[in-house]
Amino acid sequence: MAGKKTQKTRCVHVNVGKGYDILIREGILSYAGEETAKVCPKAVKAAVVCDGNAFVPHGGPVEGDLWDAGLSCAQYILEPGEQNKNIGHYAEILAFLAENRLTREDCLVALGGGVTGDMAGFAAATYLRGISYVQIPTTLLAMVDSSVGGKTAIDLPAGKNLAGAFCQPSLVLCDPLTLKTLPDDVFRDGCAEVIKYGVLYDRDFFLKLKALAETDRTGQSLKQKLAKDLEEIIETCVSFKRNVVEQDEFDRGERKKLNLGHTFGHAIEHCSHYGQSHGSAVAAGMAIMARAAVRKGYMDEADARLLEETLQLYGLPVTTAYPAQQLAEAAMSDKKSSQYAIDLVVPRSIGNCELVRIETKDLQDWIEAGLAW
Ligand code: GLY
Repeated sequence: MAGKKTQKTRCVHVNVGKGYDILIREGILSYAGEETAKVCPKAVKAAVVCDGNAFVPHGGPVEGDLWDAGLSCAQYILEPGEQNKNIGHYAEILAFLAENRLTREDCLVALGGGVTGDMAGFAAATYLRGISYVQIPTTLLAMVDSSVGGKTAIDLPAGKNLAGAFCQPSLVLCDPLTLKTLPDDVFRDGCAEVIKYGVLYDRDFFLKLKALAETDRTGQSLKQKLAKDLEEIIETCVSFKRNVVEQDEFDRGERKKLNLGHTFGHAIEHCSHYGQSHGSAVAAGMAIMARAAVRKGYMDEADARLLEETLQLYGLPVTTAYPAQQLAEAAMSDKKSSQYAIDLVVPRSIGNCELVRIETKDLQDWIEAGLAW
């Protein structure tokens, strides 16, 4: 790749399992074949699992690029949407891999958003007891969160991500140019996860995000305001995630902090029957948690208000109309919660959060404390 590209490729190396690179650069998608062949040197075939949204702009070029790199290629196209992250489509992907006679030396390429990456990753983790896979996320949310760290999963009727495996990819390619065609609301969804990293780990990064959204350039969309900083923003976020995953690959401690806003966010998604998007639910969940943290004496009001203001600058919601009791019940129906206790990620200030274990009977009280000022 060096020599062909004048612009610098940002590289974040993740040192877990065999180790892998996250490469970030505008235009990196045109090197998908070359980069895949480098990390899967014995592969003869590449199975591309692609969601319908990513297929139209990117499916053809990525497939062509894989062929050019000497990999024979077949594509499985997945209907977009969380409702498709199910055992039926997972079984179809496995059948597709088998029909195309992929061997352990071949590889899978996941091209699309978080649903595609999670499900294709789980298929790669389990087909022939595991084959290599490459993540090519095409949404901001997938770039900064789900494509990194090896959490692969499908949903079961009883809840989200209830069957899955920890299985690290061999490579992640993030091309910010793919975000140009994203609908604004899907882009904003990813911004919620970006803001989350600022709240968790870095006040200056958070303030920079706020300043970028505040920039008064008449007529510019949020995406345009962020455009020239996107590579750096993605690099910053995946570097935070890398640090966490290297410390706690299997989600026993520090990694749980990445769930900031998610306990209440998942409850909102559940109450909306998944009509409300993940990122917007997480944004509301973070704001609810911040107000609750103020009421419970963990955080200053000024920081909670700063978070609210920033989320609103990004066009994200800061509360929900669902009542606390319904949200608490939804949070407890998450089969990953213990019956007696739940770990909340509670902000102390912007840039510093801690895990607080509460009894589940107190969950509704926390939600009530945070729904409004
Ligand atoms: N999405 C949270 C994690 O990877 O742990």
